[in-house]
Amino acid sequence: MNALLLFALISLSFADDFEQAYSDLGHDRTIYISENGPKLAVVTDQAKVISQRGANATLPCKFHRDPTLAPNPKLRIKWTKLTYDYLKEIDVFVAMGFHKKSYGRFHGRVHLQDAGENDASLVINELTLEDYGKYKCEVIDGLEDDTVVVSLDLQGIVFPYFPRLGRYNLNFHDAEKACQEQDAIVASFDQLYEAWRGGLDWCNAGWLSDGSAQYPITKPREPCGGKGTVPGVRNYGLRDKEKNRYDVFCFTSNYKGRFYYLIHPSKLTYDEAVQACQKDGAQIAKVGQMYAAWKLLGYDRCDAGWLADGSVRYPISRPRRRCSPTEAAVRFSGFPDKKHKLYGVYCFKGNN
Ligand SMILES: *[C@@H]1O[C@H](CO)[C@@H](O)[C@H](O)[C@H]1NC(C)=O
Repeated sequence: MNALLLFALISLSFADDFEQAYSDLGHDRTIYISENGPKLAVVTDQAKVISQRGANATLPCKFHRDPTLAPNPKLRIKWTKLTYDYLKEIDVFVAMGFHKKSYGRFHGRVHLQDAGENDASLVINELTLEDYGKYKCEVIDGLEDDTVVVSLDLQGIVFPYFPRLGRYNLNFHDAEKACQEQDAIVASFDQLYEAWRGGLDWCNAGWLSDGSAQYPITKPREPCGGKGTVPGVRNYGLRDKEKNRYDVFCFTSNYKGRFYYLIHPSKLTYDEAVQACQKDGAQIAKVGQMYAAWKLLGYDRCDAGWLADGSVRYPISRPRRRCSPTEAAVRFSGFPDKKHKLYGVYCFKGNN
């Protein structure tokens, strides 16, 4: 029993060191394959790749086989994506000789980099938000088989969200839909954790992609888990995806297009706002697009404007009196009556 526990502890700390060690590795490492040892080794020189939506990313993977062996025309390279719980794998790409196949959402978007005969690196074109996650590179050479995992991280922003319906109204499926409608996806725990490290403090629990409900606290206070407690991401654990209702943390990344405040002679109702953007060859902007413009482009505008979900917000990058005096933030003015003719509008014009 004790030995088992000890083993579990060792493998835990090993997991930490492992990522550390791999990210420290140089590019020109030589792998020696001994005669009695394994005849195949699969390695990566970058355990984490950081990219952005719309870009092309290369997930590096190389294999080393025993040089005395004849080439194996049946050598197989297989890429899969791990699900959030690491319990399942989704097929991405398989290659054997000239035969190549890509699957599902990856169809037509992935190919091998093919930089030399030992290269198994995968190129993914036109990255989507859903591509975020961990990928497994597997090489199968007869009876030999080895794997390595590469993480694909996207530059972007996590934002808390609740719809017009009000606070704590989303089950997990509503939450997925709500983020999608804001040009985003449900954030992962790692993404929320990074946002918390960057200072995100939010006192309402929201769904995360693993089906847990959590919230990030940087300034502990009484209603948010207790005054004397340490800062951290507070976790309600895995919740019932049908029955439990929370807000949601969404994640979005770079977009291809233009986000802007529409210059218009008068204030607008919601319906007028929708039409005004259309007349300008654009669409009323989504909440995710405002957050992306604010975070990734430093967009700053002290005018409250309608967004597609019927909320009114404005993005402030340079805090100043009467806008957002103490912090850079996307300011939220609520979900006003759609008939109120009191606000401007933010539009989004996609490329092509
Ligand atoms: C991604 O790759 C495609 C095909 O090779 C290329 O046409 C496109 O310009 C690349 N996109 C970016 C953002 O580099």
